[in-house]
Formats: sequence, structure tokens, C-alpha cells
Amino acid sequence: MKHFLDISDLSATDFSTLLEAAHARKQARLSSGTPRPTAAPDDDAPLRDMLLAMIFDKPSTRTRLSFDVAMRQLGGQTLILNRGDAQFGRGETFADTAQVVSRLSDVIMFRTGAHRNLTELAQHSSVPVINGLTDSSHPCQIVADLMTFEERKGKLGGQRLAWIGDGNNVAVSFVHAAALLDFELALACPPDYQLPTTIIETAKKSAKKGRGKITLCPTPADAAQGAAAIITDCWVSMGDDDGDDPARKAKRLAALAPYQITPALMAQGDDAIFLHCLPAYRGQEVAAEVIDGAAS
Ligand code: NVA
Repeated sequence: MKHFLDISDLSATDFSTLLEAAHARKQARLSSGTPRPTAAPDDDAPLRDMLLAMIFDKPSTRTRLSFDVAMRQLGGQTLILNRGDAQFGRGETFADTAQVVSRLSDVIMFRTGAHRNLTELAQHSSVPVINGLTDSSHPCQIVADLMTFEERKGKLGGQRLAWIGDGNNVAVSFVHAAALLDFELALACPPDYQLPTTIIETAKKSAKKGRGKITLCPTPADAAQGAAAIITDCWVSMGDDDGDDPARKAKRLAALAPYQITPALMAQGDDAIFLHCLPAYRGQEVAAEVIDGAAS
């Protein structure tokens, strides 16, 4: 049994295989003649009669929808447990939650705050657990982003992608991916909002063994230079305590202001596409013309 807690737990071969399989399954569905209704299963329905339990300790729109629809398309069924109506919401441990949920399901997706909640749940689960976002990482988002990138810009090999803005959970999973695959990730984050040094150092070491590359840039323009994709995310994530403290929030927004993705910054790229995991705040991390424009 294998969990999917972080991209950094995978081998380069496993991660490439995952991406290839996702492309192939999407293509097979699209090219199978008349468009299928959303919940109609794929011909092979590989997860027929299986149950995915989704545990939400935090809000979700896209992850909830995409996991639910994907499970139906793979032939299986889904069940949702939200913080507000499950016992973990009033203090039951994730270890105990894992035992009962895994006894009554075939796979679990978990979205939570502290990453240790996820590892505790995985440790006590008898079925595979998928990370649906923690404060530390968001691996499934990066699988989706890299698929989208390849659909629009061709194979990742040798391409440059730029992350500009907060060094948050989504950025961490991007760095994990750049450590495994053959592309360059150029990052520009304000000094106080960088990714953890250990993440960067470990990823740089693994990247050296493969053909990936992680470059830390002093300015947004440096990172955007020649990039085939320019990527950002909100400036205050769900897990940021800064969001609850007006002074810290103001300091954060001021530090990130020069990192907004504007049309001028997009023009530094090489016919770059724009990626954002959403939810987006127009006028903060991205100008409306960019996120609502043709390259988005
Ligand atoms: N960095 C964001 C991603 C939301 C999908 C957050 O954690 O809130």
C-alpha cells in the first residue's frame, strides 16, 4: 500500500508515470466519441464499487469537486466528512478517525492544517491516503498544473517555469516536482516570505542528481525572464496566522505588493501562460487583465 502525501516521496519514474497515466486517461475519455455525461464512468472503470472518503478539516471548492467527479469517472463512489459535522471537529484524534474511516472505505483524501495531522492519519489508516492540501504542501495541485502546462506548452523537459509571490504550501510542492523532473523552477519571493531553507536545500540536492533545476531569483522580473509559465497564489493562505492579525497581514501585503503578476511581468516570459490554483484575489497577487486574459 502506498500513500500520496508529498511529491518528494515519489521516484522520478513514479511521478512521470503518474502524469502520463493522467494524460492518457483524459485523452481516452475525450476521444471516445460523443461527450459523456460528467458522472458516467470510463470504459474500464478501474475503481468500480470502491469508496473514496474525503475528510475536510478546511474549506475546499475545486479539490472537493475534482476528487468527487474523478472518483465517479473511475467507477467508484464518494463520501464526505466535514469538520463541522464529524467528531474530529470536537477533538477526536486523527488516529482514531483514521481507524474507523479506513475500515469503511477503500481510499481516503484528507485536507487539513498541520502536516502532522496528515501523517498521523496516514500512519493509522489501513487504506491509501492522499494529501488534499496541508499548510505545508499541496501535491495534487501540482499534478494538475503540470498536466495543464504540458497540454498548453508541450513536454516539460528543458522548460522554465516561474513561481512569483508567497513561498507557501503550493510553492513547496512545485519545488518537490522540480527536484524530480526535467524542468527549471525559478522562484522570486520576498525575503520574509521565502520557502523553508531545508526544502530548497534538499530539493536542490535531488535536482542535481536528475536534470531538474531550482533557481532563486532576486526580483520578479528575473524569475519571469524567458519563462513558459508564470505562477502565483494568494498572499494569505488558509494556514497563515497573519490573516488573523491586522498588523501582520498589512506587513505581508506590503512586502508582496511588488510581486503582483501584471501584464508587464507576463511580457517578460516567453509567450508565457499564467497559472493560479485559486481562489484568487484580483488586484493583489494578480492583475485582473492577467487572470481574466487569454494566457490564463
Ligand atoms: N495556498 C492556498 C491554496 C489554496 C488552494 C491555501 O493554502 O490557502
